[in-house]
Amino acid sequence: MGAFVDVAVIGAGPGGYIAAIRAAQHGLSVACIDDRMSATGQPAPGGTCVNAGCIPSKALLESSYQFDMIKNGVLAHGIEVEGVVLDLGRMQLRKEEVVRSNNEGILFLFRKNGVSFYHGRASFAGKNDGNYQIRISGKTEQLLSSRQVIVATGSVPGRLPGVDFDEELILSSTGALEMMAVPQRLGIVGAGAIGLELGSVWQRLGSRVTLFEAMPTLLDNADRQIASQLERLLRQQGLVIHTGAKVRQVTPASSSVVVDFDAADGSVQSATFDRLVIAVGRTPKTAGLDCEVIGLDVDERGFIVVDEECRTSLPGVWAIGDVVRGPMLAHKASEEGIAVADRIAGRYARVDYANIPSVVYTNPEVAWVGRTEQDLEREGREYRAGVFPFMANGRARAMNAAEGMVKILADAKTDEVLGVHMAGPMVSELVSEAVMAMSFRASAEDIALLCHAHPTLSEAMREAALGVSGRFLNF
Ligand code: FAD
Ligand code: NAI
Repeated sequence: MGAFVDVAVIGAGPGGYIAAIRAAQHGLSVACIDDRMSATGQPAPGGTCVNAGCIPSKALLESSYQFDMIKNGVLAHGIEVEGVVLDLGRMQLRKEEVVRSNNEGILFLFRKNGVSFYHGRASFAGKNDGNYQIRISGKTEQLLSSRQVIVATGSVPGRLPGVDFDEELILSSTGALEMMAVPQRLGIVGAGAIGLELGSVWQRLGSRVTLFEAMPTLLDNADRQIASQLERLLRQQGLVIHTGAKVRQVTPASSSVVVDFDAADGSVQSATFDRLVIAVGRTPKTAGLDCEVIGLDVDERGFIVVDEECRTSLPGVWAIGDVVRGPMLAHKASEEGIAVADRIAGRYARVDYANIPSVVYTNPEVAWVGRTEQDLEREGREYRAGVFPFMANGRARAMNAAEGMVKILADAKTDEVLGVHMAGPMVSELVSEAVMAMSFRASAEDIALLCHAHPTLSEAMREAALGVSGRFLNF
């Protein structure tokens, strides 16, 4: 029969582990099951985010940024450094150490909150008397019964039809985080968040990086002005970007890969790379879960079907994060996890989907929340924009990082902030002020009235808010 718990959470990514902790904090008995294993055979909770996503990519972004700064950036500060050497092995070891400490941190949090962690593959084994049976296949096979189940199994890298990952020449994002030598020529299919971030990493470390993007412009969901500024700056940094490019064929040879593509001008072109990364989106993961055993609805694209409260077609079964509709972001997964745990405990909960921030960790970073100018134009909504360049911000100039801007869009009549869009230094941090303002339905005037410390990058927020009514003080 196996153990009985109030809540079984399948997957310990940022959706599942947060849901498990929150449910346990409500006094429920909780099990969280995850199948990930580290290279040394240890349980590796944290999902894609900790093991092959957010955390290792940001570790490498930071290391490669520092390498690039020392080589190319510090001269402007009056510092000359000779003989800069890249020790990629050590850089990769540091990244793995960051990942390992996050894995251990989650196991500590499970112990602290009384969550029972099971290491193994979970699958639905049946349903009995309103309880779901879950089989856990790990070192041993175990059965668990639970009235409430939260499926948080995440996603896996999406494939190009007819192209397989060998993780040697043709890499997924996972392989692209693990290269132990800097390829001379690196091709990347897909210039989304992964393509741009990992392209930046390897370009800074010395690769000549070429990106192929099917859409006519970068970052289709971002504000056009911000996205085109980013595109211009990334091209200046040396990234070769083919927008409107359709990859026709990928042909691996013994030590290189040939990409045939239709360029935006209609010509058929060909390029050869030492490694090729495919980053064309991710696919929800339900394989091996045996959803059909309990009759759980999965749509034609593989997403578990849920309503706006993450309820599936079955009573007591919930699904959150990358395995359901919506943006595939760690913080979106966590928000849904918190809300579902609260709902199971009988509390009111709501995820504010309209105010989920997006960030791309390039240099400069881009970050935004809410509606873009093109959204508002499409909706025919009258708005006013305040655009403040970091060039006019004292702190950004002192940092020698004055590229980019903050743009605030506010309703023309009520002045309510409808969207905030940024490119520039540390905007991944600045966007939280915008999220707070918009969650409290602030007006641009509300932000303009707040005292911001000087000299800080955040003053650009206040100035953009002042700019909505044409009252810049520093521009
Ligand atoms: P996951 O994190 O995928 O976790 C699911 C877990 O469930 C996995 O450990 C999986 O092995 C396990 N599992 C699956 N099936 C079973 C089963 N049957 N039994 C047991 N366990 C199972 N998002 C951001 O917000 N910011 C970023 O900066 C960012 N950077 C990224 C960089 C890269 C390179 C990638 C690939 C992704 C990035 N993401 C980022 C996206 C982010 O990683 C995902 O949105 C997030 O991890 C989704 O969380 P989740 O809990 O839904 O699923
Ligand atoms: P993505 O959806 O962000 O970008 C994929 C890109 O590939 C799109 O621009 C798309 O137009 C393009 N594309 C698709 N098919 C193509 C083809 N055949 N040829 C050329 N281009 C093609 O997906 P990505 O970058 O793979 O990332 C996966 C998920 O991980 C995303 O949902 C993203 O939100 C998340 N992520 C988030 C990050 C962050 O928040 N900073 C960082 C990295 C990933």
